Amino acid sequence: MRTQPAVTALIPAAGHGARFGAEQNKIFTDLLGRPLLGWTLEAFAQCTDIARIVLVANEGESDLLWELGERYAGGKLQAVVLGGSTRQESVRRGLDAVTTEYVLVHDAARCCITPELISECVGTARSHQLMTLVRPVTDTLIRRSGELVERADLVAVETPQGFLTDLLRRAHLSARSEGFVTTDDASLLRRLGRTVHLMESTSPNPKITYPDDLVIAIALLTARTTAKLPFVSDAL
Ligand code: CTP
Ligand code: MG
Repeated sequence: MRTQPAVTALIPAAGHGARFGAEQNKIFTDLLGRPLLGWTLEAFAQCTDIARIVLVANEGESDLLWELGERYAGGKLQAVVLGGSTRQESVRRGLDAVTTEYVLVHDAARCCITPELISECVGTARSHQLMTLVRPVTDTLIRRSGELVERADLVAVETPQGFLTDLLRRAHLSARSEGFVTTDDASLLRRLGRTVHLMESTSPNPKITYPDDLVIAIALLTARTTAKLPFVSDAL
C-alpha cells in the first residue's frame, strides 16, 4: 500500500494586528486562558494528517513562538522562520523551511479551525493538488457605486489553502519577480493559469481581525469544549 505523502502546516504569524489595535501582535491575545495562537496550534497538533508545523514570526517574537510550539504543537514544530513586511513575503520565506510534497497554509489568526476541517482540506489537496477553503457569501453585496453584485457568483476566501509545495514556491517566485502582491496564495497560482479547487467550509472558521471577533471565537471554542462533556448540566 502506498503511504500518503507527508503534509506540513505553514502558519504565518508575523503580522502586527493593526486593525485589532492591541499593543502586541494579536496572536498573543488571551483567549479562554491561553494565547490565541495556542488554539490554532492545538488543532494542527491533533490532526493526524499533519506531520510538521512551520511558524513564521516577527523579529523578536521567535522565542515566544518556540515556547508556544513546545506547549501546543504536539512535538510537530519543525521551524520558526523570520517573516516579512507582507503576508505574501512571510509565506514565501516560510516555504524555504518546508520539505514535504504538500503544504497547507493557514492564518495563525484563524484559531477556531478544527482537526476535522484540516483533515478534509488535506484530502482535497491530495486529490486536486491546489485547493482553498471558501465560504458562501450571505450578505447582499453592492459596489460603492451602488451597482448590485450577483451573490451567487461570490465566495469568501478562507484558509487552510493546500498546495503541491513546488507549485506554490514557483508561484511565489514569479509573483515576486513581477511585483504582484496579494493576501491570497491561491491567486498566485491562478495568475499562472492554474485552477484552484474551491472547497466549501463545513464549520465556522472566522479570522480574528477586530476585537469583537473574539466574542465569536469564545462562543465557538466554548461550545466545542462543553460539547465533549456529556450531561454537563446534570453534573453541576
Ligand atoms: N501575517 C504575516 N506576515 C505579515 C502580515 C500578516 O505572517 N507581514 C499573518 C498574520 O499574523 C495573520 C495572517 O497573516 O495570522 C492573516 O493576516 P491578518 O489577519 O491581516 O493579520 P495582521 O496582518 O496581523 O492584521 P492587520 O492586517 O489588521 O494588521
Ligand atoms: Mg494584515
